[in-house]
Amino acid sequence: LELNLSIITENLPLLLKGAGITLEITALSVGLGLLIGMFVGVAKLSDNRLIRGLASVYVDCIRGTPLLVQIFLVYFALPQIIGHRIDPFVAAVGACSINSGAYVAEIFRAGIQSIDKGQMEASRALGLNWFQAMRFVIMPQAFKRIIPPLGNEFIAMLKDSSLVSVIGFEELTRTGQLIISRTYAAFEIWIVVALLYLIMTLAISRFVALLEKRFSKGTRK
Ligand code: ARG
Repeated sequence: LELNLSIITENLPLLLKGAGITLEITALSVGLGLLIGMFVGVAKLSDNRLIRGLASVYVDCIRGTPLLVQIFLVYFALPQIIGHRIDPFVAAVGACSINSGAYVAEIFRAGIQSIDKGQMEASRALGLNWFQAMRFVIMPQAFKRIIPPLGNEFIAMLKDSSLVSVIGFEELTRTGQLIISRTYAAFEIWIVVALLYLIMTLAISRFVALLEKRFSKGTRK
């Protein structure tokens, strides 16, 4: 095996651009997933059976089917219903957001449930309504606890976003495939692709550890 270093240096800018795009769709997807997941997570704890049921159906359907199939559904099946094509970027972020939302919902639900019931009861007894209690008492405490699992979700999504390469969206993995189809340098390129993912996931876990430390200041353990 002869390593061709010039192939790496020549294609590094392309791969770095791909890595940037991977980060971008991951941040967008987990960001939107956070929004979806917060509402669905609270909905799962609702007293209303219908709301709880709908939230459960969403979470079960998404977590019970492969992200890969969800990407195919959004990119190839949905256009047949709406009658026009979907941009690969929109399909990629759409599928990943809907997917992430289900995982984030469970993180929020668990985080909220981990806060002692007495907190809500005390808030209500002090005259806060349910929304105020949630916003000012429960959520700030729950949020601290869900930082580590949210960090895990971000890392998982960063890696799983490689699946959108199947619809031709040029993130890091797809960029690697395209370079190899031109250069046949499978070994060099896949090693660099793997290293770039590794650097990104390590950076994220460092960042999450930092956040965790910051948010736990002044908290009794
Ligand atoms: N392997 C899982 C699947 O195919 C990945 C989904 C993970 N997504 C996430 N948001 N953590 O369904």
